[in-house]
Amino acid sequence: MPRDALGHLTSGLVGPSRQVPSVIPRPEYVGRPGPRRYDGDDHYDAGQIERIRTAGRIASQAVEAVGRAIRPGVTTDELDAIGHEFLIARDAYPSALGYRGFPHSICTSINEVICHGIPDDTALIEGDIIKIDITAFKDGMHGDLCAAFPVGDVTREAADLIERTHEAMQRGIRSIAPGREINVIGRAIESYARRFGYGVVRDYTGHGVGEVFHSGLVVPHYDAAPAYSTILEPGMVFTIEPMLTLGTPEAPGTVAWDEWADGWTVVTRDRSLTAQFEHTIVVTERGAEILTLP
Ligand code: MF3
Ligand code: CO
Ligand code: CO
Repeated sequence: MPRDALGHLTSGLVGPSRQVPSVIPRPEYVGRPGPRRYDGDDHYDAGQIERIRTAGRIASQAVEAVGRAIRPGVTTDELDAIGHEFLIARDAYPSALGYRGFPHSICTSINEVICHGIPDDTALIEGDIIKIDITAFKDGMHGDLCAAFPVGDVTREAADLIERTHEAMQRGIRSIAPGREINVIGRAIESYARRFGYGVVRDYTGHGVGEVFHSGLVVPHYDAAPAYSTILEPGMVFTIEPMLTLGTPEAPGTVAWDEWADGWTVVTRDRSLTAQFEHTIVVTERGAEILTLP
């Protein structure tokens, strides 16, 4: 079974990749080792933003559909099947599938898995928390989001971590205004997380998204000033996707992590619980608008 004697996750059996009907357009990186260099920037016009919103809506509804199936006993591969079928039924391509060799259509990250968990034969257990990250590619645009869910009854600690990680993301979104530096977002997130002694993951960040899955624009979730001083401007599209962990007194605020031999799964080094939420947003004249709503 893919848990060790301490109840920590270990890698399970990864089933075959799922098929996408050939009529559904694929991102350029599928079937290649990785994406081509991106020369474009992160600004989009109204028509392009509508297309990102359409992709984002489908991805968001897919997360909801997967969320309804979360219960003790279900495997992450079964959740992958639900997300995959939901997307292809709407003529959207699951952006994760074949991205730098990722073998499945969604990311399923349980408990101490920070991000990029590969769906496998791991069955959920009451008390787990699971993050579902889905990106849809539709009409040439990607929309990317993630949500954390409790599995049955969870500890108070776990429920609080989920709720506060969501609130941290919302505070990051609300900090956005044209003219401010992009590092205001992480400042808002980190100062909220610190109240609870949570760790903030630094090495995985938000990113520009739209025509490409990851544009090269980096959105830190911690206070990186004076670095990351890009000025926010209306029409910029990117994700905000904080990963917070239950802190340890020895290492307040910082998060050490390990990557599994599968080249994807990222876990907290101390195996502490971690939660994540993500939205794709566009900067507006007044603030920001979420593009990954159902
Ligand atoms: N959706 C993830 C993000 O938020 C990226 C997943 S890459 C994958 O950036 F290949 F694992 F899907
Ligand atoms: Co993302
Ligand atoms: Co994502």
